[in-house]
Amino acid sequence: MENNMLKVYAVCEKALSDGNLSKEEILVLLKCPEENSDIIFQTADAVRKKEVGDEVHLRGLVEFSNYCKKNCEYCGIRGKNKNIERYRLNKEEILATALRAESLGYRSVVMQSGEDPYYTAEILADIISAIKAQTDLAITMSAGEFTYEEYKTIKEAGTDRYLLRFETSNEELYKKLHPDSDFHQRIECLHILRDLGYQVGSGFMVGLPGETPEIFADNLLLLQKLDVDMAGIGPFLPNSDTNLAGASGGTLVNSLKAVAIARLLLRNAHIPATTAMGSLDPKGREKALQAGANVVMPNVTPEEFREMYQLYPNKICLRDDPAHCRKCITGKIQGISRIVSKEHGHSLKVKKEY
Ligand code: 5AD
Ligand code: SF4
Ligand code: FES
Repeated sequence: MENNMLKVYAVCEKALSDGNLSKEEILVLLKCPEENSDIIFQTADAVRKKEVGDEVHLRGLVEFSNYCKKNCEYCGIRGKNKNIERYRLNKEEILATALRAESLGYRSVVMQSGEDPYYTAEILADIISAIKAQTDLAITMSAGEFTYEEYKTIKEAGTDRYLLRFETSNEELYKKLHPDSDFHQRIECLHILRDLGYQVGSGFMVGLPGETPEIFADNLLLLQKLDVDMAGIGPFLPNSDTNLAGASGGTLVNSLKAVAIARLLLRNAHIPATTAMGSLDPKGREKALQAGANVVMPNVTPEEFREMYQLYPNKICLRDDPAHCRKCITGKIQGISRIVSKEHGHSLKVKKEY
């Protein structure tokens, strides 16, 4: 026990100046008992401060469609779930939502949906061009897998960034959870996005059934290997409308460790305090911001659609409007002595000027 804590301290000490932790060193941190884990969070907080400063970047999340052709085992909007009502926002509604986000002070939006075949690359490009023509927002798309040509069309319309989590680094587990996706194809998409000049975000869920400490460590190492600009990590929260309803889900401490170790490995990447973290614990997002995170993605989806976009249960902000969330999150950020950024929050790894 004593000995293990000495190892934890040694790894933390090294990580203050060097992000090249070995798998064994990562496992030392992952195995650190909950009651002693604060040292890991404090180390990540120090690295966060040094690498990306005290500013927190806000991205307004626009959930523009909950239709999905896929059936990921964990997800509440999987195509086969007949218990939810489906919706799509049209171009005018999406544009109005983006304009509203900008008027609330957002410099950046994330447009997220299921894999909805209605929105072809051309349709998305048309919507993005319209947002770009009328706002100064940085745009992240998060709408799943496309071909090279399709991603190119979406990029050329002005999209700055793309979010596509790999969900788990373990091929076998990936296969079990994704009846209609292929792990290698997923990774190939991430390479294509990088080649096309997107700022690339990826990530994984913590506590998926079948995750071992080794897989957990490999998830973190894969993020590092992909050299992502953004790392989105959140707990798996079992959804009662899925076959994983009875699974146990990710814990707060493991999710915080994942964020913290991602900060140690990725140094100046953007790391959100995810909504799933805030749904697991009322102070989850603040705790993540104090354990390495530097981004929050408050919901700007119009109130009438929010209830229908539930990938997992007990999602926060379902009955709040965009203006309320904007104020709420500012209060939370200032409450922990951090600053809401006024910038677009582009990747710090991007060398070119925007
Ligand atoms: N619990 C937590 N996160 C989930 N996601 C999907 N379903 C769940 C769930 N039950 C995450 C996936 C996906 C992102 C948009 O939401 O990681 O990439
Ligand atoms: Fe569809 Fe994404 Fe849910 Fe999978 S995780 S079912 S691709 S919305
Ligand atoms: Fe939505 Fe706090 S961020 S209510």
